[in-house]
Order: sequence, then C-alpha cells, then structure tokens
Amino acid sequence: MTDRSFIARDILYQKFKSKIINNPDLNRSLVSFQANKNNPFYNWFKYREGFSEKLVTYLLKNLKPESGIMLDPFSGSGSALFAANSLGWKSIGIELLPIGINITRSRIGAYSIDVNDFQRKISEIEDLNFAAHYDAKYALNHLKITRGAFPELEEKALIGYLSYCHNFIQEDRLRDLFIYAAFCILEEISYTRKDGQYLRWDNRADRPQKSSFNKGKITSFREAILKKLHQINTDLNRDISFEKKYFPRPILYQGSCLDILPALPDKTIDFVITSPPYLNRYDYTRTYAIELMFLGYGQAGIKNLRQKMLSCTVENKDKKVYLKSLYCESDFNKIDDIFNSSTALQEILLILNTYKQAKKLNNPNIPRLVQNYFYEMCFIIYELARVLQDGGIVAMVNDNVRYAGEEIPVDLILSEMAESFGLTTKYIWTLAKGKGNSSQQMRKHGRSEVRKCIYIWEKSKLFCQ
Ligand SMILES: C[S@@+](CC[C@H](N)C(=O)[O-])C[C@H]1O[C@@H](n2cnc3c(N)ncnc32)[C@H](O)[C@@H]1O
Repeated sequence: MTDRSFIARDILYQKFKSKIINNPDLNRSLVSFQANKNNPFYNWFKYREGFSEKLVTYLLKNLKPESGIMLDPFSGSGSALFAANSLGWKSIGIELLPIGINITRSRIGAYSIDVNDFQRKISEIEDLNFAAHYDAKYALNHLKITRGAFPELEEKALIGYLSYCHNFIQEDRLRDLFIYAAFCILEEISYTRKDGQYLRWDNRADRPQKSSFNKGKITSFREAILKKLHQINTDLNRDISFEKKYFPRPILYQGSCLDILPALPDKTIDFVITSPPYLNRYDYTRTYAIELMFLGYGQAGIKNLRQKMLSCTVENKDKKVYLKSLYCESDFNKIDDIFNSSTALQEILLILNTYKQAKKLNNPNIPRLVQNYFYEMCFIIYELARVLQDGGIVAMVNDNVRYAGEEIPVDLILSEMAESFGLTTKYIWTLAKGKGNSSQQMRKHGRSEVRKCIYIWEKSKLFCQ
C-alpha cells in the first residue's frame, strides 16, 4: 500500500500545483496574533489564536478595494470584523466560544463608554482594599481543572473587586468594562500559562501532580488590575475614541456557524475572511478553562461547548445526524456526496484506519477526527458559496497537518470541495516559511514541513447552485 498511498493526493496536488504560490508579502507574524501585539485593545486580552488586523487590511485592499459586507464565521476575538470596519466595510461575525464573544462585545461596549467616568472610577478604586469588599455571592465556581489556579489571597482580592464592581458601579457598560479588565488578567495572576497546546501549571500551585515548570513572577491582583485599567484608559482616550466616532459596529452572532450560516440569505456577502480551528487537536475549552469558569461555565457547559465546536479534538463526536436535521434532503445529499467524492480524503482515511488497527496512532480517534473535520467543513464551504454574491471572495487561513507521518493536504482537499460548490481557487498562498514540525517528528518521518496557507476562492459570476 505504501507505493500507492500517495496516488490520490498526488493527483490532487497536480490539479492545484499552479495555484500554490509563495506570497512574499505574507509571513507568520503577519498571519498570527504576533502582529497585533502592540495594538491597543489586543493588549487587553491576548487571544493567541487570532490573526492580525494587518493581514485583514492587506486582503481587503488587495483583493476587493471597494467596500461591502464582510463575514467571518469563526470570528474569535473579532480581528477581521474590526479591521474591515476601519476600512468602511460592514461586518458580520459568528463565534461559538464565550471567550471570543466576550472580547468582541467588550470592544464594542468600549465604544459607548464615557471616558471621563471611566477615569474617575479608576481614581476611586485605586486605594481600595479589595478583599474588604468580598461577597461570597461572587465567589468563583471552580472546576476540577481550575481549582487552585490562584494564590488564595489574590483570589480573595479578585472576588472583592468583582463584588465592588457589582455592588457599587451602577452604569452597566462601565461595570462590564471593569469586570472585563479582571477577565484580561486571569492568566497573569494565576499559577498557569497558556503554552502552545497546553495550559501549564506552575510548581507552586497546590496540585496533586507537581510539574517542574516555574512561570516566574506571579503578579499580585492589585498590581495587575491597576495596570490593566490604566492601559485601557490610555487606549480609550487615544485610539478607541477615533474608532468610536467613525467605525460601523460589527454584527455578532453567538453560536455555531454550522447552525447560523444556514439562516443567512443567499448572495448577501461580498467577502469572507476567516480562519477555522485547525485540524490539530487543539482544545480551546481546556486552554481557556479558567476564563470559561470565570464567565460562569461549569463542567457540563464546557463539555457541551466542546462538542458543538467544529471537530478539532479527538473527543469530538460525529455531527452527521444533527446536520441532516438542518437541511432538506436534496441539499443534504448533495453536500454529503461531495464529501464522499474526495478521493484524496478517502485515501487518507483508509491509511489512518489501517494505522489505527496496527496501533500506530497515538490516539485511536484520529481517523474519526479527520473525517468529522472535513465533513463539517464541507457544510461550511457549501454555505459560504451560497451566501457569497457573484464575484465574492473567500480568504481562509489554515494549516496543513500530519498524523503518523501522513500528510493531510487540508488546503487542497478544502479547495476541491470549494470548487465543487462553484468557487474557483485563485491562489493557495503559502507563507514565506511553513509551519515547522517538531524536530522529533522530522527525524522520525524524514519529511519536509507542512504548508501554512491562505486560500483565495472566488465565486464566478456565472455559477448557479
Ligand atoms: C483560529 S480561531 C479564529 C480567530 C480569529 N480569526 C481571530 O482573529 O481572533 C477559530 C475560532 O473558531 C471558533 N469556533 C470553533 N468552532 C466553531 C463553530 N462551530 N462555530 C463558530 N465558531 C467556532 C473558536 O472558538 C475560535 O475562536
């Protein structure tokens, strides 16, 4: 099988070879959160899974200079929405996780804050003894995986601060922004650090399993919150006051885009700029467990969110029956047929299932994950093709991946699906340097690095769905 195992992927590669172009304007830093690092607002809460506003500006200016309506069905912290707004575009975002929703809503909320009131309130609380305001009503309902996340006294100060906000800040938006400031510093005052795929625990935390990790200085609640409030205040005075006056507001839907996209009307969107979760087992609900707990999510709520997410972890179960319930039979069958017609994907699934039987995978659910990811993406791409205006464009940021040495050309498989739904692949832009594999993986499999890309698909003016 090894000799034949690349045939379908090779054919697919030949089909799209001429579209795979290295774009020297793009690099990892521009595509990732890195390039937002010094921007106001992004400094408030670091959403590391985001892409940069500069990238969105680049795409809009280069691919569709005349403004219209932009959609991001995986809007995360809202970078695409706000960047599009700043160029005069209207924007629509869909996001499932309350983390991204909270970040985006807080930025929208900040537009309507009276900066003088905000500043005055900071002065009022500057010398407050937060712990003295402790009200058990606002205590955190810890999850098993967040218990012991904060030094005890700091958690008491945090709850005292929240109690003060609830009891003494009457104006809703002002109170929300003060509470959001606390949301932004949870990691900083905790024994944890978000590190790549994991939430790492410092060895000073009172946990049954001790790690050797030491995150360095753990800032006190007082120091962290005052610093954050002053930073927000500076940005509100400087940058946000401009946004406030001139930018349209994004429209934001909270929920799964698998549910929400089917409700959007045909041919109403000019540009889709998005980055779905990657097929890399990254579990947002674990990385952001502390923030989810802070927002009131319990074990069951988090589990439910994890299952609703686009399948990107080995725990995600099949959504086929659910998807069937959302569509009329003919549309469902059409999408299902297109998924089944991907020979490259069938080739990969066959190989991964063989590896599974031979116990060569480090998790037996990997084939299911790969299958579900593409199945759900097939519905999403169908919807994007449907809601796009003729001549509309999709720009999608995503990484290819490799499991047990098998390359999964996510870019090519998704582009083939997009073409089946009437989109044309204009480019598969690769970044100056692709996503590296761990040196351990490279040694083991002796393969080159996998592509990190932005696909540009266009809806031809003549195509009828
Ligand atoms: C790669 S991130 C996108 C980040 C975004 N571009 C930004 O700049 O912040 C993917 C996002 O998809 C969200 N997501 C996952 N499954 C979803 C679903 N079914 N519907 C809507 N959003 C989903 C995740 O919560 C995550 O915020």
